[in-house]
Amino acid sequence: TRVETRVYDSEPRVGVEDQDRDPTGGAELEFWNVPDLDPALAVVRERAARMRDGSAPPAEPAPLVPVTSTAAADAVVARAVEVGATWAAVPPGARGAALRRAAELLEERRDAIAQTAVAEAGKTVAEIDPEISEAIDLARWYAGSAERLDPDHEDADPDAVHRPWGVTLVTPPWNFPVAIPLGSALASLAAGSPALLKPSHLTPLSAAMAAGAVRDALAERGHAPDVLQVLDVAGSGEADVGSHLVRHPDVARVLLTGSLATARLFARMRPGLDVLAETSGKNAMIVTPSADVDLAVADTVRSAFGHAGQKCSAASLLVLVGSAGTDDRLRSQLADAVTSLAVGPATDAGTVMGPLTPVADGDLLRALTTLEPGESWLVEPRRLDDAGRAWTPGVRYDVRPGSWFARTEAFGPVLGVVRVPTLDDAIAVVNSVDLGLTSGLHSLDDDEIDRWTERVEAGNLYVNRHTTGAIVRRQPFGGWKASVVGPGAKAGGPHYVAQIGTWADAPDVP
Ligand code: ALA
Repeated sequence: TRVETRVYDSEPRVGVEDQDRDPTGGAELEFWNVPDLDPALAVVRERAARMRDGSAPPAEPAPLVPVTSTAAADAVVARAVEVGATWAAVPPGARGAALRRAAELLEERRDAIAQTAVAEAGKTVAEIDPEISEAIDLARWYAGSAERLDPDHEDADPDAVHRPWGVTLVTPPWNFPVAIPLGSALASLAAGSPALLKPSHLTPLSAAMAAGAVRDALAERGHAPDVLQVLDVAGSGEADVGSHLVRHPDVARVLLTGSLATARLFARMRPGLDVLAETSGKNAMIVTPSADVDLAVADTVRSAFGHAGQKCSAASLLVLVGSAGTDDRLRSQLADAVTSLAVGPATDAGTVMGPLTPVADGDLLRALTTLEPGESWLVEPRRLDDAGRAWTPGVRYDVRPGSWFARTEAFGPVLGVVRVPTLDDAIAVVNSVDLGLTSGLHSLDDDEIDRWTERVEAGNLYVNRHTTGAIVRRQPFGGWKASVVGPGAKAGGPHYVAQIGTWADAPDVP
C-alpha cells in the first residue's frame, strides 16, 4: 500500500485557522527538562488549577446510547439511516457551517473536555490540551472539505459528483480519546453521512463530551443531532454487538483506528467491507553523526515518551548511525533526559509522563521487564504501583535488528537503541518492519536527508523534528504498508473526505 508519503521539516507549529485562539497555540505545550522557561507552562498550570477546583465551565455530553443487544444495534442503525437521508440532502456548505459552529463550541468547552479526559484516560494536561486543539482544527478543516464539495465553491471540481459515504461506523482507540473519535465522525458528517461512534470502552466519556459539542452545533443549525450517535456497547455482549454492527448491511463504511489485528478481524467478519483503517506503528528515529545532538535527544525523548509512549506515532527505536553510536555525550544526555522526566499524576501540570491508560501486560510488560540477548538497560524502568499503571520510562540498549523488540509495537514507555554502521543499514532496519507509520531523521547533511527521504518506507516522515503530534493540514496523518488499510488518504489532509473506498488494500486474512 502506498498512497501518500509526506516529508515534514521543523517549521514552527501553529494551529490551522485560529492561530490566536489560545496563547499556547495548542501545540507548544511540551517542555522537556525546561521548568519555568516555557510560557505555555503558566497556561497549563492555570488550567490544571481550574480543573482541580471545579471552576472549569460545564458542558453537556452526548447521550451514550446503550447498545447491549443486536436488536438495539439494529435500532441505532435504523435511526442513522433515517436522519442520514435528510443530512445527505443538506447542501455541503451548510454542513460545513454546522461543523464550524461545532469548532466554536469545542473551544468554549475545552476545559470540561480536558478534565474528563485527564480523569478518564490519565492523559496529562500538557498532552490533552493540544489534542483538543487538534479536534478543533479537524472540525474547521473538515468544514472546509465539505464546503469545497459544493458545486458553487470556487475550488469545486465542476465535473465531480460527490455521493455521501453512507452510514459510517467509527471505532477509535483510547489513546487519543477526543481527537480521533471526533475527527473521524466529523469527516463522515462532512461527507454527508451519519456517524455511529463507538468509543473505546476505556474512554467513552471523553468522546461523549466532545461529541456533545457537535450534536449541540447540529441542533442549533436545525439538523438532527442523531446524525452523530455515541454508542455505549460496553458490558455484556460487546463482541456480539460490535461484530453485528460491522456486518450490518446498512453500515456502508467503517473508520477504524486501532491495531492491525482488529483490522484483520473486521476483514474476517465481513469480506468486502469498505474500511479505512490506520493501524499500528513500529517507528524509529535515526540519528546520524551530522545531527545536532541536543535537538536529536530532545526530539527522541519527546517522540518516545509523550503520553507514556502510548501513541501509534511514537518512536520506539532510536537508530544511531556510525560514530553517533559511540558518542558518549549523546548516550549520557539520553540517559539523563529520560531519567529526569517528571513522572506523576496526570492532573499535575508539571507531569510529563502520567499513568498508562490500561495496565501494562502482554508485549508491553515484556518490553518493560525482559531483555533480549545482547541488550542492556541504559535506563531500567521501575513499576511504581501495585496495579501496573504507573511506570518510569525505560531505554533498552543494543537492541538487535530483527529481534523481538525491534519488530514489536510495545505501545508504552520503552525505547530501544540500535547501533548500525551506515545510514543505509539504518534505513534497512526501519524498512524491515511490515508497518510504516511515522519515521524520523536527525541529520544536518542534505545528501543524507535526500537518501533517507527517497528510501524510507513510512507515511509521515519528519526531518529534525519529533515524530508525534501531526498538525492538521500541515502534516496530514497516515501510514504506509501494513499501517494503513483502504485507499489511504491522510486524516486532516485534502483528500480524506472525498476519498472513494475500495477493498483493494485488504489485509491478508490468515
Ligand atoms: N496524529 C497523532 C500524532 O501525530 C497520532 O501523533
